[in-house]
Amino acid sequence: MKTDSTAWSTKQSAEIYGINNWGAGYFSVSDNGEVIVHPHGNGTGVSLRKITDGLIDRGLDMPVLLRFSDILDSRIQQLHEGFGRAIEQFEYNGHYRGVYPIKVNQQQQVLEEIAAFGAAYHHGFEAGSKAELIAAISFMQDSEAYLVCNGYKDAEFVDLGLLAKKMGIQCVFVVESPSELELIIDRSKALDILPIIGVRLKLSTQASGHWNHSGGERSVFGLNPSQVCDLVDRLKEVDLLDCLKLLHYHVGSQIPNIRDIREAVVEACRVYIGLVNEGAPMGILDLGGGLAVDYDGSHADTPTSRNYGLDEYCAALIENLVSTLNEAEVAHPNIITESGRATVAYYSVLLFNILDQSRFEIHDLPTSLAADAHELLHNLIAVVNVLEAGNAQECYNDAFYYRDEIHQRFKRGAMTLRERALAGEIFWHIMTRISKLTTEMEYIPEELQKLPAMLADIYYGNFSLFQSLPDVWAIDQLFPIMPIHRLSEQPTREVVLSDITCDCDGMIDQFVGQHTTRDTLPLHNLTDEEYYLGVFLVGAYQETLGDLHNLLGDTNVATVEVSHAGKLKYTREIEGDSVSDVLSYVEYDLKRMVRRIRKMAEEAVHTDVITARDRRQIMETFENGMRGYTYFER
Ligand SMILES: Cc1ncc(COP(=O)(O)O)c(C=O)c1O
Repeated sequence: MKTDSTAWSTKQSAEIYGINNWGAGYFSVSDNGEVIVHPHGNGTGVSLRKITDGLIDRGLDMPVLLRFSDILDSRIQQLHEGFGRAIEQFEYNGHYRGVYPIKVNQQQQVLEEIAAFGAAYHHGFEAGSKAELIAAISFMQDSEAYLVCNGYKDAEFVDLGLLAKKMGIQCVFVVESPSELELIIDRSKALDILPIIGVRLKLSTQASGHWNHSGGERSVFGLNPSQVCDLVDRLKEVDLLDCLKLLHYHVGSQIPNIRDIREAVVEACRVYIGLVNEGAPMGILDLGGGLAVDYDGSHADTPTSRNYGLDEYCAALIENLVSTLNEAEVAHPNIITESGRATVAYYSVLLFNILDQSRFEIHDLPTSLAADAHELLHNLIAVVNVLEAGNAQECYNDAFYYRDEIHQRFKRGAMTLRERALAGEIFWHIMTRISKLTTEMEYIPEELQKLPAMLADIYYGNFSLFQSLPDVWAIDQLFPIMPIHRLSEQPTREVVLSDITCDCDGMIDQFVGQHTTRDTLPLHNLTDEEYYLGVFLVGAYQETLGDLHNLLGDTNVATVEVSHAGKLKYTREIEGDSVSDVLSYVEYDLKRMVRRIRKMAEEAVHTDVITARDRRQIMETFENGMRGYTYFER
């Protein structure tokens, strides 16, 4: 990588990190080299660096999860406007009603914001458990919005939903398995409240992408066509067919290919028509989640991207509905989608500082070896002398062979520590030169492609992958990561990131590049100034899936609002977990721990190992530590 910073522009920074590809208009780079957030998706913006300084001034330490409530509002608005345009274009007669699947980010703040801002669009909720149902009921204030109940339901769940319906909430029970229907029938008779019944369909359509097992005939949830017919027969038997109003399917989260989306809606539409022909009133078609986020900005049919935009998604669904329903002369139902990821992903950014670095550095080689130096060392030096682009792979193989032979001999005591150290220096010198030579090659062999990652620096970030980015660890999810400042300087180091868990799984070595993924992230040299990185698009699924690996707890959280005139307001702060919080989560008895340390310290005073003043200092340090943040504090 070039080291001359003078010719570097912020435009080049925007390009190497791909921010204009994945930022969806919410993030950009300013002329003075800082990342700017545009929470309303246009014009006015505020520097993330400025926001970070404000947080530090207020005493909120890194890492911080930054939430933008305006981005949440903007996403809901865009979703409804997208469907609005498609409905008008294809002359669709039903309404669009979104529901937010609570599991995607269950924070009260998210529900409050969606209930308040979404009211103008009758945006409702999807609940998959009793806790989510209670959360949804307590925030539902709109009798035109839907509350869709998926997931396994017990009697208490059904009673809660029926009573919510009695209060005027449009609470729909989606039958996920045949046995659930009897429970709904029994409880509705017991409480004398007619239910709104929906049925989840197992489609034969299976989407590509990471979550494709949610769809297809072997999916875990939902009824196959024959079970759907049994459900209709049973409802007719108990005279409740009038309660069957909704058909639902969900082919999986993050569907990358628009063709799968089209196929699924047509298949579901046929079943919907079948149910209308069976005499069910119907009126609502719930197309599930799956609207994907373009995490790497490549606009491609890959698990971390999608080959369509929001308008295309809305148009594809509505167009297929109109043609299928019109052909069968069936009235257009209201449409629900359960978009979670696409609603909340952009809403949060994880900010953290870099604590330290382990630089990959090679030293100058000796110009010649002593005549009596070990033959294997001479062989390694010979590789250095003949290396060129045309024989790079051969030299790579030889270098590995001689290096491994030297390691073996060292283990047997046949070579000295200094000889082994010199072998290491020569080996890494060869690897570095080969890596540089790959830039001259038309075709780079697979092993040589991995060299930049092998030769990268390691930067240690003040965060826990397991707590804040669990999908990176669990499913190799890619999130855009970049510095939030110094973007008018050329980044001169190629880096992989490590968190502070000291766990080799706490490493990030896949990054979003210009139009592709990269094995290393270009970053700046560390200086005395604190260096901040942002991980973007982390609002969906990350916050509550995170765990307490190494007892690193929830991070500090801050919510900011930016007015249309660009005025910044810090609206909410939530302090992250303290050490005592995380210890109590894993059932430590904190009072007992303090008593034990005090007893130990007193024993030490008694035996003249420490003084009484030392004891006081020990207890103060211990108690301060318990109150402190679980992350690295400067
Ligand atoms: C039934 C159901 N609805 C909606 C969603 C949300 O999907 P997404 O976040 O991809 O929109 C999920 C998650 O996979 C789901 O299981």
